[in-house]
Amino acid sequence: MTIKKKILKALAGEVLDTPPIWMMRQAGRYLPEYRETRAQAGDFLSLCYNSDLAAEVTLQPIRRYGFDAAILFADILLLPQALGADLWFVTGEGPRLSTINSTDDLKLLKPVDEIHDTLRPVYETVRILSKELPEETTLIGFAGAPWTVATYMIAGRGTPDQKPAHDLKDNNILAFENLIEILTKATIKYLSAQIDAGVEVVKIFDSWAGSLKGDDFYKYALEPTKKIVMELKAKYPKVPIIAFPRQAGDYYKGFLKSTGADCLAIDDSISSAWAAKYLQKDGCIQGNLNSSHMVSGGQNMIDEIETIVSDLSQGPHIFNLGHGITPEANPDYVALMIETIRNFKRS
Ligand code: CP3
Repeated sequence: MTIKKKILKALAGEVLDTPPIWMMRQAGRYLPEYRETRAQAGDFLSLCYNSDLAAEVTLQPIRRYGFDAAILFADILLLPQALGADLWFVTGEGPRLSTINSTDDLKLLKPVDEIHDTLRPVYETVRILSKELPEETTLIGFAGAPWTVATYMIAGRGTPDQKPAHDLKDNNILAFENLIEILTKATIKYLSAQIDAGVEVVKIFDSWAGSLKGDDFYKYALEPTKKIVMELKAKYPKVPIIAFPRQAGDYYKGFLKSTGADCLAIDDSISSAWAAKYLQKDGCIQGNLNSSHMVSGGQNMIDEIETIVSDLSQGPHIFNLGHGITPEANPDYVALMIETIRNFKRS
């Protein structure tokens, strides 16, 4: 069967005239219709667990902009909650969780098989979206990578340097490695259930991979991702996997080959020219416009978009930002970004 959807073509290694486009956090606070639906749900977590409204916000940026992919509306921190951690969001500050600091704390977590009890509404959101998305739009599911999720579970919040997680790793390796193993198993189950419900691609977000160096990068960023990819590929050989070891820098090199993922999502700390030279030979590259351009717009934004599209035009490429779009972004600049990409003629 020939592949029809543009995102799936790029993920299969096809070089397209125009890169397919989507944005991290495309359903988010920069959109007035998102803010309205979120208010209707009450708060962010209620929105995540309300399948009808979560499907609605997933569809909003597709209706407004015609992105080539929709990303399931949920959060990477729903998995720790499904494992028994307390989770809440403080407005204007971010997530808070009960903390994990010892092997005893780990004993309080639920068995990984029980995650589905909490996550069932997420699978229902996927089923609704599979029916309602336009036929040319690809549905992407996701989870956090074990290291990134562990950094939140250990600290009980987001941290600028992930120090509490590094401290646990350095002072109680048994508890730390146990947590990584639990999260690896739970993530495989979570992503498998999303695929069973209908997602066509999965993405693994390792937002804090950049703070792991040397052996630690290989043991706690690369290895867990590889394990997740291998297990998913054994069960679902046709489902493409996007890996996002954010801010990995030089460690981006070889990541696709070592993990078996199909596509490497890159942040904006590396240039698209460097990515084309060192990374694109191993597979599809996704990225990597600095999301601040969505706030400032202007000729700088257009120049930067054209540089990225042109630099990555010799291999498979999916256009995206280097990180999530921020609440201050101007919705008009998103439209202009898409228009610029779709009108760009390679010289
Ligand atoms: O990309 C999408 O549109 C899909 C949905 C999605 C969300 N979070 C919704 C969300 C995805 C894929 C995520 C991933 C996520 N969540 C990551 C990895 C990617 C990254 O950003 O590095 C992380 C680290 C989280 C944890 C998280 N969720 C934090 C730290 C915060 C607070 C920061 C913030 O932006 O407010 C969230 C909240 C969150 N997740 C929002 C959204 C739309 C904002 C919530 C709101 O409406 O108030």
